[in-house]
Amino acid sequence: MQIEFRPGDFRSIACDILAFPVFEEENKDFTSLESLDKATRGIVRSVLSSREFKPELHQSCKIYQPAGLKARCLLLLGAGKKSQFEPARLREIAGVAVRVAGSSSAKNVAFFCRGGHPADLSARVSAEGAVYANYESDIYKTGDREPRDVENFWLLFDKKGSREALREAIRRGVIVGDATNLARTLANEPSNILTPSQFAVRASTEGARAGLSAQILEREEMEKLGMNALLAVGRGSEEPPKLIILRIAEQKPRKRSRGPLFALVGKGVTFDSGGISIKPAEKMDEMKADMSGGAAVFGAMTALAQLHPRVPVIGLIPAVENLPSGKAAKPGDVVKSFLGKTVEIVNTDAEGRLILADALAYARTLGATNIIDIATLTGACVVALGHVNAGMLGTDQTTIGRLRSNCRVTGEGLWQLPLDDEYRKAIRSEIADIKNVGDRWGGAITAAKFLQEFTENTPWVHLDIAGMDLDHDGKPFACKGATGFGVRTLVHLLQ
Ligand code: BES
Ligand code: ZN
Ligand code: ZN
Repeated sequence: MQIEFRPGDFRSIACDILAFPVFEEENKDFTSLESLDKATRGIVRSVLSSREFKPELHQSCKIYQPAGLKARCLLLLGAGKKSQFEPARLREIAGVAVRVAGSSSAKNVAFFCRGGHPADLSARVSAEGAVYANYESDIYKTGDREPRDVENFWLLFDKKGSREALREAIRRGVIVGDATNLARTLANEPSNILTPSQFAVRASTEGARAGLSAQILEREEMEKLGMNALLAVGRGSEEPPKLIILRIAEQKPRKRSRGPLFALVGKGVTFDSGGISIKPAEKMDEMKADMSGGAAVFGAMTALAQLHPRVPVIGLIPAVENLPSGKAAKPGDVVKSFLGKTVEIVNTDAEGRLILADALAYARTLGATNIIDIATLTGACVVALGHVNAGMLGTDQTTIGRLRSNCRVTGEGLWQLPLDDEYRKAIRSEIADIKNVGDRWGGAITAAKFLQEFTENTPWVHLDIAGMDLDHDGKPFACKGATGFGVRTLVHLLQ
């Protein structure tokens, strides 16, 4: 799909679909729709006032052969309340336009950017939304798959903006949209395809294409380094564990004491059976996406490599498969972590925090001054926040504040949970420094408390995306399956 800014009058653009956002307030007050209504000789007004189409968010209505327009079809896009029209909503309805167009085999789509946001921001999020919507997850179907790709997506504006700025904004939007789709592709891959080794291969090859260099720590090196928490999780599987370290090729490695370095750390469990503490069969298949945090880090790093952020940033993805076997870690086992703290593994299904513990501590030795980790870590977080917000906890309140306020642009919900020291009590062990599970209560928080032990005093934010990595129903702007949650959040923060 080619995305371009198109100057000129919306009436004279020849295209299959002209998509035009309409706000709920415009149901009664047509003044801002006057030029469209006049051009189409009153169709728009009559469709709205007859209530045939209510411009609620994500609704749409096609009008074929509209009078006064060169477009074959006018697509009215419900944009919801104007007062609630955040940039994230514009991204979504740009996506609705692409999916409606795709399902009717339209090739050339013009999208009128409305909403009153700055033109370059509008262009960027619309491009992101279009690329995101154009993604399908049915890659393993062998039957005839209808090509439903939109070929051209033209962005129209009512105000004049600088062409250069718009072109750059679209370029950025496409990069972020592609990076998000890359993360979705990886998370949708079944675990027999995307093993830890295959994750490392893709990080190397696809990373290189984006301008990343990937270093892979193999089992032997991790043994030498004493990463026994991470290794304990991978021990039950025939697939060797990998620690993937991503750097932006153009960013020179810095001396430890010189300036800030952000480390992004993503949980990369390519399949989580629970291990010896095995999960029930129902929905266990969804645990192929337990590497979604790692995929988000990889996606974000590919985007950042092309966006040239001012802050130095590295990515770490501990990639393992959590399976039961005669070699697997068992409940009650004690391991010595990379940091030196001993951990009692009470439940082998609380494996994410074990691999992250070693990756977080290792990030500090690489000179990280700020750490953000992202992980499908706890079912408890889904119980607390549902599928609307990811849990956000940590010690870096400045970054937490930024991440929260970015949500209106990224469209990725984040909600802070507390991290009082009193929660630490739940993970005291009788036999070791710490145990890997607490009691029934506050599970998302006690998991974060566990991670905190391995960040020492480095400013750190933890994102628990367990409820956000998969979309079971699909959306008018996206297919079902992996969401790529976190890519936009991480990229927006760092650029
Ligand atoms: N990967 C799961 C968490 C998860 C649950 C992700 C649901 C996505 C959807 C994690 O490794 C896990 O199994 N956590 C346990 C922790 C418990 C044993 C303390 C959980 O949440 O039940
Ligand atoms: Zn688990
Ligand atoms: Zn897991």
